[in-house]
Amino acid sequence: MKGKSINNALASTCKLVILRRLYSNYFQNSTISIIRNLQDIPTIFKPIKSIRKYSSFRRINNSASNPCRSQFPLYILTDKNINRCPGPYYAVDTTCYYSTHRSSDSFSDSTFLTRKLEDARLDFDNEIMTTAPPAASCEKILVQLGEAKRFAVESMKAVGTQEDHAIALAELLVTADYRGHFSHGLNRLPMYVRDIESGICKSDCEPTILKETVSTAWVDGNNLLGPVVGMFAMNLAIKKAKATGVGWISCKNSNHFGIAGYYTIMAAHEGLIGMAFTNTSPLQVPTRAKKTILGTNPIAMTAPAKGDDYFCLDMATSTAAVGKVEYHDRQGIPIPKCWGVNKDGLETQNPKEVLQGGGLLPLGGMEKTGGYKGSGLAMMVEIFCGILAGSTYGPNIRKWMNTEKVADLGQCFVALNPEMFAPNFVDRMSDLMAINRNLQPIEGEKEVLVAGDPERKHMIKCDKDNGIRYHPNLFDAMTQLGERLKIKNLQKSS
Ligand SMILES: NC(=O)c1ccc[n+]([C@@H]2O[C@H](COP(=O)([O-])OP(=O)(O)OC[C@H]3O[C@@H](n4cnc5c(N)ncnc54)[C@H](O)[C@@H]3O)[C@@H](O)[C@H]2O)c1
Repeated sequence: MKGKSINNALASTCKLVILRRLYSNYFQNSTISIIRNLQDIPTIFKPIKSIRKYSSFRRINNSASNPCRSQFPLYILTDKNINRCPGPYYAVDTTCYYSTHRSSDSFSDSTFLTRKLEDARLDFDNEIMTTAPPAASCEKILVQLGEAKRFAVESMKAVGTQEDHAIALAELLVTADYRGHFSHGLNRLPMYVRDIESGICKSDCEPTILKETVSTAWVDGNNLLGPVVGMFAMNLAIKKAKATGVGWISCKNSNHFGIAGYYTIMAAHEGLIGMAFTNTSPLQVPTRAKKTILGTNPIAMTAPAKGDDYFCLDMATSTAAVGKVEYHDRQGIPIPKCWGVNKDGLETQNPKEVLQGGGLLPLGGMEKTGGYKGSGLAMMVEIFCGILAGSTYGPNIRKWMNTEKVADLGQCFVALNPEMFAPNFVDRMSDLMAINRNLQPIEGEKEVLVAGDPERKHMIKCDKDNGIRYHPNLFDAMTQLGERLKIKNLQKSS
């Protein structure tokens, strides 16, 4: 790496840069350095072996698509061999702090960084980091749903994914964004791309049925993409429920399947009640324990109502997702109570303690606030998934973001035909939801919602806008992915 070329690449006004290397969207193994003089960059990074992989710095805030960044120059440290070591990599310019932190040279822990990122009004949206001013002044980029799907399909095909598998994944990811769950949408596309690229996840066959009755099936996901396994299994459950009243499918050897609600809505579209569950990497401590042995193990249940209305409860069984804790850590702000514990199993509001040897609390928090109920629900999910399916379970599941061994997740998909029970199910569903929605809201709130309503509101907004509004950082991350994969970039809606 040559200091001169770096200097040339960087604007002369840049006095202080914080560089942070991100692996898989997370901050593990990150390297943070404060650089006062740009010519010092090679010296500061010299002892870091991996820096040899990097070749240049590129200013990325000058894109017209990204007006919110014009105030704060942003540089990206690009990788010479990006194919083997994909990003994202971000470099954050904190020129605005130069005066207060001019004595700092380099740091190896993140305390300093998070403090200043908070000052920098870091806006962390959907697990993408930005130095943008507050979101209100940051214009989101409109992308049509079809275009987002096209991009996801082409990205997956570029690394050798079978077309129908790529389509299944694209449907799932774009639906997550459309429903407002951006953390599980295109934001996760690089993760799935890497899974196929590295060969740790397959795309060369279909799931197989290992054992079957009229209403049940045990499925081998054959280490295929989670949505491929999930859609196969829910379609099978729907078929069985239509024939017998219920379809209960248990899958082993699957991968991350995204938003659980996607599969349950498939059932609701057929007039059925749908349920979906998956086990996940251990991040959650059971009540009274110090050690994480269960994942955020989501539960989804959708029940059809009149017209195209439905109730859709789709939630993790931990109080908060790990991404939310990481977000607070990056901002250097405390997490709310009930979210996590430290390494001694004691409740903490310090996100760092949760991430470094602690764990997520189950839904409800500690024992005194009913956390044992969330703990029991997470265990129930594990029983329906890992235990019933014979997949890896509990603490044996690979660590979050570890892709060195196959995931072998257990998943469960259920469809139930309400017509096999009392008549007029949808009428009573609509009545119950109307009773709930028509309740007088508490002061400061406009309305009372039922599960599924926040997502419905987001979809209505997208329909009105004729597309999904993405954070500029997400858009940039997709541009980088598109360039790396040599496919047509994600196009803004004109
Ligand atoms: N695949 C995985 O490994 C995995 C793991 C965890 C979570 N997830 C997914 O992440 C997504 C987000 O999970 P989450 O727990 O953060 O969801 P969340 O907390 O945003 O919402 C949970 C549920 O509460 C409902 N809800 C929200 N506000 C409400 C209100 N005011 N009144 C009534 N209902 C309300 C929502 O409609 C939703 O059904 C889900 O789609 C979930 O499936 C996936």
